[in-house]
Amino acid sequence: MTRILHFSDVHFPLTRDSFSVREILRPKRILASLNYGLRRRSKFADANTKWDAFENFYKSSEFDAVICTGDVTGMGMHGELEYAHNKLKEISTHSNFILLPGNHDIYLPERNGSYFYDIFKDNITNSDIPTNSDIPYPLVNLVNDNVAILAINSAKPNPLLIRSSGKISAEQLSAMDTLLSKPELKSRHIIVATHYNVDDEDTNLHGLENRKVFRAILAKHSCTMLVHGHIHKRQTYNLLGSNTKAFCAGSLTYKGRESFWVYNIDEQSTAQAGCWDGKEYLLGKEQAI
Ligand SMILES: [Fe+2]
Ligand SMILES: [Fe+2]
Repeated sequence: MTRILHFSDVHFPLTRDSFSVREILRPKRILASLNYGLRRRSKFADANTKWDAFENFYKSSEFDAVICTGDVTGMGMHGELEYAHNKLKEISTHSNFILLPGNHDIYLPERNGSYFYDIFKDNITNSDIPTNSDIPYPLVNLVNDNVAILAINSAKPNPLLIRSSGKISAEQLSAMDTLLSKPELKSRHIIVATHYNVDDEDTNLHGLENRKVFRAILAKHSCTMLVHGHIHKRQTYNLLGSNTKAFCAGSLTYKGRESFWVYNIDEQSTAQAGCWDGKEYLLGKEQAI
């Protein structure tokens, strides 16, 4: 059996050191700061304490792979990303650690591209099957003879104030289609990981803009599951047009909704929901995937 830990949307809180006046003075971040002060700060206030407890949970068990589907920061500022990088230091030493950016980590276009790729370059492993992409994704991790993880970046900068949507580049979609046809993947259980949800419940301003084409490619291939974050509430649903089941990890640290997943991949694969009891993270009963 292959055991995989999946968490998302930690949103480490803003600290004095991670704050930059130069970076904050952009319309989108000014609005986000107001929103953070009025609403988000209280939701993620205990994120650091919960993260310590999550590290204890992680160390108390054995996992074959660990997936983080992004949104480790609030506004993607350089200092925030460095802070999150430091927090993830221990867990990211896992030999099969897969990290994806969320929209909050690639928040705005920066002068030299995104800070995310620079700061996390040591934590984004090379793909086991290289592609010609100019970003590290799509990234294949052949966990073992039983499971392959295919990580797709769906986050992009959103300078428009009211937009927080995602989009998967045409290059990635094409590479993904090719990779899913490879024997190395077809002979294994395939877990596709990305930041955004792919159902039609979301708006075009908040969801994945090209989810239909993404779903169509997934439907062509036989994937065991799609895993993602972005929606701060744990959920599962069936992908339209295919037999693949989607698992949203929700947010690890959002007050009152703390959650994550553990997947047990085998002939009869199961998932276990992780929850927070006020002091520590615990696992629920196994449910069929
Ligand atoms: Fe988030
Ligand atoms: Fe997000």
